[in-house]
Amino acid sequence: MSGKALAPGARYRELVTAINEADRRYYVDDAPMLTDAEYDALRVELNALEAAHPELVTPESPSQRVGPSADDRVEPAVKLTEVRHERPMLSLSNAFSPEEVADFAASAAKGLGGREPELVAELKIDGLAISLIYERGKLVRAATRGDGTTGEDVTANVRTIRAIPTTLKQPATCEVRGEIYMPKPSFAALNAERAAADLPLYANPRNSAAGSLRQKDATVTAQRNLSFFAYQLFEEPAPAAQSAALRRLHELGLPTEQNARAGLTGTSAASFLAEWVEKRRTLEYETDGAVLKVDAVADQEQLGYIARSPKWAIAYKFPPEQVTTKLLGISVEVGRTGYLTPVAEMEPVLVAGSTVRRATLHNIDEIRRKDVRVGDIVVLQKAGDVIPEVVRGLAERRTALLPEFTMPTSCPSCGTAVVRDEVRHRCPNRACPAQNFETLRYAVGRGALDLEGVGEKLLAQLVERGVVRRIGDLYRLTAEQLDGLDRMGSLSDGSRREGPNRISNVLGMIKERRSRELWRVLVALGIRHVGEATATDVATELQRRVPPTGGAAWGRAVLAELRSMTTEQFTAISGVGAVVAESIVSAFATGLAGESLEDLFNAGLIAVPAAVTTNVAGGPLAGEVVVVTGTLTATGWSRREAQDRIAAAGGTVADGVTAKTTLLVAGEKSGSKRAAAEKLGITIVDEAGFVALLGG
Ligand code: IVH
Repeated sequence: MSGKALAPGARYRELVTAINEADRRYYVDDAPMLTDAEYDALRVELNALEAAHPELVTPESPSQRVGPSADDRVEPAVKLTEVRHERPMLSLSNAFSPEEVADFAASAAKGLGGREPELVAELKIDGLAISLIYERGKLVRAATRGDGTTGEDVTANVRTIRAIPTTLKQPATCEVRGEIYMPKPSFAALNAERAAADLPLYANPRNSAAGSLRQKDATVTAQRNLSFFAYQLFEEPAPAAQSAALRRLHELGLPTEQNARAGLTGTSAASFLAEWVEKRRTLEYETDGAVLKVDAVADQEQLGYIARSPKWAIAYKFPPEQVTTKLLGISVEVGRTGYLTPVAEMEPVLVAGSTVRRATLHNIDEIRRKDVRVGDIVVLQKAGDVIPEVVRGLAERRTALLPEFTMPTSCPSCGTAVVRDEVRHRCPNRACPAQNFETLRYAVGRGALDLEGVGEKLLAQLVERGVVRRIGDLYRLTAEQLDGLDRMGSLSDGSRREGPNRISNVLGMIKERRSRELWRVLVALGIRHVGEATATDVATELQRRVPPTGGAAWGRAVLAELRSMTTEQFTAISGVGAVVAESIVSAFATGLAGESLEDLFNAGLIAVPAAVTTNVAGGPLAGEVVVVTGTLTATGWSRREAQDRIAAAGGTVADGVTAKTTLLVAGEKSGSKRAAAEKLGITIVDEAGFVALLGG
């Protein structure tokens, strides 16, 4: 009996080893050991064995690389779980010219008392950075870089990437960092598929890699054909040099980029860079530069860090790729503040990894300076390999006399006569439909109310139907108003499953974002010159002037304060100059900003003070172990929001009440936890007390 039970287990382990080995040979060594047919046969056998013996399946099984089965799929979480990195993921300073690279080598030598260090050059893969934690050789966690301190847990998604081994060749415990990327052919195929399905295209392989990885459903990641290169290793004992770390990574079974070169001096590193400027186009993956690293760890330690970047490494950015294409036309867009922007409409062309059709031409003076005319062949490049930019028109290639472009004299959206503000043209009509739409689009954007899910297309339909005229209207949306809109589905027809889901998703998201930090609300008003930074400064001052009380009343008190404040009072805020102060005062004087704010409050939006994010260690809740219970109706905060604020204030969030708990925040309907806290003599505060403790 036991012999029989052992046999499938043994075969299973053999298969897992063979497939993982084949994957490694294919992805890591770039030397396949099996034909496709042989490989497929192993996979088929493994699947059959797993179907018959589900108890054998481990997370390391290659079958897990296709993601969970459809039945196991859980409802997507609102957000991926956040994880704190064991050590921060730093960034690199950039060099854009050979001179800057020479400066780097010289300053490294200086830092080492005049001795020129050996350098390693690695191609810089344009993907997204990932941290992989292996324990005794098993992949246990994968996280994105995030802000460098906290990233997102993408372990399930990363398990689907075949280039990343779930089991190392040795039972090492280590952290591996590297770049997840999408190979160029996969990127092209994916965009072709998306174009056919009328889905928005990914701008470049980097975005598509990030988009493919940060999926709530790992089966999507599995289909995206992502790959990986490792470039950093934290292991005890630590490798003595970067070149040794790269060898060790390879030895552990991790793929490393094979064109890296060690033993370089400043001069030979410069030749490496020159060599790869053009050669990089022959690679299957996008590279946007090369990273130069001082090889010896002892030297690295001596050189140290500046801010969040090592002084022992630098990223050299390759000069932007330039291409030529035909300028088919120049369209004019009206922005939020009424400025007219000319936009180049071009024959689609591939530049630095993505297809470009349009690029801003900024203003009429720029068009004259670059001498671009409709019908011209133009030189196009990407600034920082990201933003498309028309460099100039090729006057020498004109075969006919092309007229110079002139700006329209009336607004393309409302027909009002255009005025000229120095170099730019502006539509002075505050009721201009284009300005109104852009204002709304800005208000729902990430840097403002962040109403994810209310995209441009949905917003356009809502405005067109007259359902949404100002921002407050978004908070009044009903299922009926969304019913039957493009991509929303219908409440009544056959697409019941699709329709009501999308509709309730949108409504649920808006409801969830009913309480917003004051600075977000200020940004959303679309006052000229008031972006995120200014709004944060102004909100901080308002929080000082009007102590937060919790609940909807605070926002209204803030509004009254805003209406009463003078230009002098605004200029007294650090970071606010005279022009900005004037702009804020006039926005409230005309009544427009005040009205839209009042309307937002009437529609149910609640302005809340910003979470304390600075000085966490000495924050107002430092040392406290805090439990939140009940519903927070006065502030409208979700449990999660309240917990974020506790953490930001230096407190520790706990789930259950124990002897270690020092504070209980009790919202409405707080039952058993309140009783438990009372019994233990723990301090209990209501919402107002909580807000006060947060230093509000
Ligand atoms: S080293 C402290 N090596 O470039 C050193 N980074 O701006 C940390 N990258 O976030 C990075 N290829 O996403 C390093 N061979 C390479 C790299 C590389 C790509 C990315 C990585 C990092 C960014 C640095």
